[in-house]
Amino acid sequence: MRPPIDFGSILITGACSVLGREFARQLSHRARTLVLVCPHVERLETLSEELQARNPTLGVVLLRADIALPNEVDRVMNELASHLITPGVLVSAAGVGPQAPFAQQSWEDVQRTLQANIVAPLLLMHRLLPSMLARKSGGILHVGSGNSQLFLPGLAAASAAHRCLDGFLESLRLEVEGSGVVITYAAPGPVGDPRREDPAAPEAHAPFFRLSAAQCARKILAGFDRAEPLVYPGTGHRWVMGLLPMLPRPLRRALGRFAAGRRAEEGTGGSSPRLARGLQALLPPGTPSPGATGLNR
Ligand SMILES: NC(=O)c1ccc[n+]([C@@H]2O[C@H](COP(=O)([O-])OP(=O)(O)OC[C@H]3O[C@@H](n4cnc5c(N)ncnc54)[C@H](OP(=O)(O)O)[C@@H]3O)[C@@H](O)[C@H]2O)c1
Repeated sequence: MRPPIDFGSILITGACSVLGREFARQLSHRARTLVLVCPHVERLETLSEELQARNPTLGVVLLRADIALPNEVDRVMNELASHLITPGVLVSAAGVGPQAPFAQQSWEDVQRTLQANIVAPLLLMHRLLPSMLARKSGGILHVGSGNSQLFLPGLAAASAAHRCLDGFLESLRLEVEGSGVVITYAAPGPVGDPRREDPAAPEAHAPFFRLSAAQCARKILAGFDRAEPLVYPGTGHRWVMGLLPMLPRPLRRALGRFAAGRRAEEGTGGSSPRLARGLQALLPPGTPSPGATGLNR
């Protein structure tokens, strides 16, 4: 069983994002129609031209929407129906992950994290799944994060959201088993080069496991094509993510502490700042440094 990508209609959320754009590029020579959804649709016009230059027979639909709002999602669905487009595949790559201690975040930021990472994907799946089931063919690819396996100070709400989706998709997959609908949860590690995006960035997080957006999207799509339930793109990342759940919780908590560099800054417990920096380098981006987050204050 494979998701109906070839000559199909594919809806991509988070299409403005680094990964969303890369999914669009890599699917452009396979799909019949790409529906790109983003709150800033004007940022997608150049991409749309690039995609149509790659594949002149490709239909590209750009839609502006906040997909955490039911009325906006219904508007998207109605607009697609009026163009006789029924997406057979959903690539859900929208998300947010502000980095700050939970108590220091505004409730609006927390709410936005939960809305973007939980409500939005569930809402879209709720709207799209019935037609996939009726056609006995469909595909849902959700891009979460390897953070779902980690305990990360400074990313508590985002970790909660990613873990929630992991559990949700595992259960949903069992509900639709044998129906012709493929469900894949992709949990990438670090993607892209932060120094390219921000030349002032002092050091790249997780340099050993970092993939380019193109590599990451390619590996995720290959796993989705194979109907894999869970994809950890990249060999090193896959090994670490596979091993983490086997570690005792106290050890995983210790990893979280080291990752945040708390002991290094406090200089307590005899822990090694070099080890803390090393662990920080192994873990995904978004693992905050104490100075940036005020974790020790
Ligand atoms: N980049 C990485 O290193 C990395 C690593 C692991 C996992 N991931 C995950 O992969 C996914 C894509 O990552 P990325 O770094 O490419 O993303 P990104 O650059 O953070 O962009 C995410 C996009 O989703 C959009 N979005 C958020 N809430 C939305 C909503 N309610 N309705 C519509 N669009 C919404 C954002 O819009 P705005 O522009 O308005 O914010 C943004 O364009 C995310 O889920 C992220 O957690 C990324």
